[in-house]
Amino acid sequence: MKVVETKDEPTVSFGTLLERIEIMRSALRWQQQLDRPQIDKLLSQCTSLREEVLRISLTERFVKATVSGQGKGKRSLAQRRKELLERDFVFEGVFGESRKLLDALEIAEKAAPTDLPVLIDGESGTGKELMAKVIHANGNRSDKVFISVNCGAIPESLLESELFGHKKGAFTGASADRKGKFESADGGTIFLDEIGELPMSGQVKLLRVLQSNEIQRVGSDQLIVVDARIVVATNRQLMKMCEEGTFREDLYYRISVMQVTIPPLRERRDEIQILIDYLTNAAAESLDRNPVKLSRRLDNFLRKYDYPGNIRELRNIIFRISCLATETADIEHLPEHIRPKIAHGDSDASSIDTSGVSLNDAKRMASEEVEKQYLESGLRETDGQVTKLAEILGMNRTHVQSLLKKHGINSKEFRTKKSVG
Ligand SMILES: Nc1ncnc2c1ncn2[C@@H]1O[C@H](COP(=O)(O)OP(=O)(O)OP(=O)(O)O)[C@@H](O)[C@H]1O
Ligand SMILES: [Mg+2]
Repeated sequence: MKVVETKDEPTVSFGTLLERIEIMRSALRWQQQLDRPQIDKLLSQCTSLREEVLRISLTERFVKATVSGQGKGKRSLAQRRKELLERDFVFEGVFGESRKLLDALEIAEKAAPTDLPVLIDGESGTGKELMAKVIHANGNRSDKVFISVNCGAIPESLLESELFGHKKGAFTGASADRKGKFESADGGTIFLDEIGELPMSGQVKLLRVLQSNEIQRVGSDQLIVVDARIVVATNRQLMKMCEEGTFREDLYYRISVMQVTIPPLRERRDEIQILIDYLTNAAAESLDRNPVKLSRRLDNFLRKYDYPGNIRELRNIIFRISCLATETADIEHLPEHIRPKIAHGDSDASSIDTSGVSLNDAKRMASEEVEKQYLESGLRETDGQVTKLAEILGMNRTHVQSLLKKHGINSKEFRTKKSVG
């Protein structure tokens, strides 16, 4: 797009403009046919958008973005982190300086002062909630509330009432009027975690909040205006869900105006050491002990391990070994399901082949893979019902849940596709 400077003052911000374009796109996307009045309306919207584009100042649109983008390749990663610090960026405890993490932080920095919705995506445990807090802390609402809602943890039947509140008598048990999380987040930020779990009816309501900042309590006709900045997160492929008809495409386009992708830990291995240092100190402080030392083979293992549970898994491991080891932690302090077997007669000489994967590691990985496939096939058989699967396996449901979490399996994806109108 060619930048044209005009003397006229812009009437809307670049962000609002993007949103208007998104509204038009979604209006078109759901149209089967267009009649003349609709075509005229869209043409007139296009004309006014074109005029706004011409008006918006060069500075607001591109200067900030290009200046910070210029020479990105030339600046070292440490330099990029230092520059964020110099701009008073609040890291909220985010450690690491891999290229992918810095890319994510720099997008977060640009998104933070706007009121645009942000979609954070990444595998389980990569730091999505932490990133949402970073966006809140660097924005204009940092002194207001940050309300976090895990859409995947609330039973579907209660989710809408939790988010939007309800009117007395709206359903059995609704003994009084109650406000929901959106109203509580008024003026601040609402973080909707696991947005892919939001049922269709909730998706429609969320779309309304994004379009007009209005909510409706369950069982009420009254529209209530709320001013909450929306940040959402997912570890699912929302695009694929749109294709399958389980996530509204118009909602997807509204929430993904700004997208921050957090890479899995195995794609930023150069950060593992700095995280280990930080986490051993954090664990020492919280457990009131000296920072634990790591044996060579444990250190080796931790640097090569794949971390399906990402930073949360690394954190749990470090806290666990800090609690179990006296002075120096070793392989035996690792959780059993990831512990590599120590070869007979092996002392501290690593049982892990430094040039590749050892036999023990290969066995462990194979066994992990079998476990994963077993669970997936069980879920297919039980139509995604974890309780049923736990019964069949003769295991406790919580344990099955934790195994699913470890492998990043979402049981809901195994349910028979819901039909949508
Ligand atoms: N870059 C980082 N530096 C330090 N700690 C981190 C970093 N990223 C994440 N953590 C820590 O890892 C843990 C998991 O992070 P968080 O809860 O934000 O992940 P998540 O992506 O929301 O996970 P889930 O998908 O399971 O909900 C938290 O204890 C968080 O503080
Ligand atoms: Mg989370």
